[in-house]
Amino acid sequence: MSSETPEAKASRASRKDDHVRLASAQQTEGPRRTDFDDLEFVHHALSGTSPDRVDLSVNLGDWTWPTPFYVNGMTGGTETTAKINRDLAIAAAETGLPMACGSMSVALDDAEAAKGFTVIREENPDGFVMGNLGAGRSADDARRAVELLRADALQLHINPVQETAMPEGTRDFSTWMSGLEDIVDACPVPVVVKEVGFGLSRRTLTQLAEIGVRFADVSGAGGTDFLRIENDRSGAADFSMLTGFGQSALACLLDAPPEWTGATGSTSAAASTTGSTTAARSNAATGDSAGPGAVPSRVLLASGGVRNPYDVVKALACGARAVGVAGTFLQTVLDQGAEGLVELVHTWQTQTSALFALLGAQRSTDLLGTDLLTRGRLGEFARLRGID
Ligand code: FNR
Repeated sequence: MSSETPEAKASRASRKDDHVRLASAQQTEGPRRTDFDDLEFVHHALSGTSPDRVDLSVNLGDWTWPTPFYVNGMTGGTETTAKINRDLAIAAAETGLPMACGSMSVALDDAEAAKGFTVIREENPDGFVMGNLGAGRSADDARRAVELLRADALQLHINPVQETAMPEGTRDFSTWMSGLEDIVDACPVPVVVKEVGFGLSRRTLTQLAEIGVRFADVSGAGGTDFLRIENDRSGAADFSMLTGFGQSALACLLDAPPEWTGATGSTSAAASTTGSTTAARSNAATGDSAGPGAVPSRVLLASGGVRNPYDVVKALACGARAVGVAGTFLQTVLDQGAEGLVELVHTWQTQTSALFALLGAQRSTDLLGTDLLTRGRLGEFARLRGID
């Protein structure tokens, strides 16, 4: 039995459906320039290898994933979104992609809504599945969410910008840090802390490391824009003044602290700046002090605005161990169902191997040895943050 009033239930259902509808509308707006366009590889014409030598699997310490990209947390809890989760799960099962669901709060006290999440396990009984909850939930909720989905990991989203703009959102974030700590301590599976498209800063990543978080998805700006989604929902107070708030995934990766990158003797994971608008990232500034192939004690994931395999490769080259994709895959299942996503994932796998070969990388960690240039907004960010 649901403990929600019928009004609260209807409002929650309409929010879930609004999110999908408005995220999809953003996907169909056509291309826009993002920080991914401000990162370039210096081309070395004789450094390539063969795609036959490429191994796309990634070692995240606790797990090995077959591809360096995954389906990020999106939805569940209504009839429409259950169908989306079903299609995503079918595609994930067929391609071996790890997959997360959207926030499961609703599933914890509504058996009907829970079916929109458990469908993921039914369609993908042996796959790698992540549950999802927001900051502010209890450790007991986290345990129940994991149990409901037989989840391999739990995504915990921290989304203060979205909450600020959301008509029914919370404005009090004062207990989030202690709540997170409780969940990290009590959760039976590893916790992946993520943003929802505004980025995790250097300071935030340090705070997460201090409470024992070992997996973080920086989920930066430039892709699905939840500020705009919430502003576009009816009844929203206008927070469009915050447009552009937050950092992109690449900015977060370049700025990540050593406790997440394993880099020694430097304040940042990556880049060495060579000028006010151009930054070059060199091989040495990477991965971990035990060598680029070793698994650091903490694992950085990235997402936010990933449109194609080139974006995936760029995020890996900036230090992500794997890359989450939400809006792009959502649009594919909405337009072409599970079959369309299976085809797209196969294309991405082939193209990612080809890009690795072009860049001379046999494994994703070899990309940490590529020469990178940052320009424009991203270059400016690197300069202002003193990344060198
Ligand atoms: C999301 N995202 C999300 N994240 C989360 O942790 N819990 C959630 O419930 C949701 N809900 C949700 C709904 C929809 C429709 C979308 C498209 C996305 C955020 C998502 O995981 C990701 O962090 C951002 O969308 C940025 O990635 P993309 O969309 O630019 O690839």
